[in-house]
Amino acid sequence: MDHFTALRDVSDIAGLVREARRCKEEPLARVDFGRGKTLGLLFFNSSLRTRMSTWKAAQNLGMQVLVLNVGTDGWALEMRDGVVMDGDRAEHIRDAAAVMGQYCDILGLRAFPGLQDREADYNETVLNSFLRYSGVPVINLESATRHPLQSLADLLTIEEHKRRPRPKVVLTWVPHPRALPQAVANSFCEWMRAADVEFVLTHPPGYELAEEFTAGVQVEYDQNRALENADFVYAKNWSAYRDYGAILSTDRSWMISEEKMARTRSGKFMHCLPVRRNVVVTDAVLDGPDSLIYAQAANRVWAAQAVLQRLLHSMAGTTNG
Ligand code: CP
Repeated sequence: MDHFTALRDVSDIAGLVREARRCKEEPLARVDFGRGKTLGLLFFNSSLRTRMSTWKAAQNLGMQVLVLNVGTDGWALEMRDGVVMDGDRAEHIRDAAAVMGQYCDILGLRAFPGLQDREADYNETVLNSFLRYSGVPVINLESATRHPLQSLADLLTIEEHKRRPRPKVVLTWVPHPRALPQAVANSFCEWMRAADVEFVLTHPPGYELAEEFTAGVQVEYDQNRALENADFVYAKNWSAYRDYGAILSTDRSWMISEEKMARTRSGKFMHCLPVRRNVVVTDAVLDGPDSLIYAQAANRVWAAQAVLQRLLHSMAGTTNG
């Protein structure tokens, strides 16, 4: 694996999940594997789980970690090529990426979409600039369109908690007061399509995700029907893709409650966090026995560690010949 930006970078999903499980069983088994290597974690946007779990994963492999909050502590970056830089942006992204690649052996990058210009967001300018100019392996810590480390942790969590070989997994849109990216939902669709699960997507009309993530996915507009016999209920808000960035509904009847969960097959509740309590999902569900939210968050470490191991392994292979 040369980079970890999307599912397409993974040749063997089941193998990567197994690797994450091995990291969980014995976190320090390869504590010298990353000795002398530096991981740079670059945040254009806020993060709690991704920041801490990836940092911890790197430490478990003996790596050094440099963290830069680019959005607040770095120079304002110019993203456009060929422009006269006489405005308020002091540094071009191609220079920043190339320089960070001199300091770090692997770069992890978080850059949310602006949700104003769909084409610009879905072109992934920031992520692609680092892929093009940094010269080192890049990990997607949540880009404009994807959050693959979250999806890998979610798949690991489903594998650990499933009670039948091919569980029913439902991704449901839920209300939220702010316009949120589609990245978590996109990635979850992408990974569930590749997993051995019965996957159902439910959302109000108008919240259709991009075809590249949902081709072949069963979409059910009636949330109650979608939840029937579900083994896992994954709740997530996203803003509209078609009417890009719009909030089309704040319908509270889509909030996940104990009544909703009663429609499932003793289903487990999942959410990537952070979560707005009693807007997205009730306290009773979040704090109940079928909530997997902390298990998911814990598994973020093992997902990141497995990815780092694979990248380090590829780098060692390149170095050795
Ligand atoms: N789930 C997730 O990515 O959490 P953070 O935004 O806190 O990193």
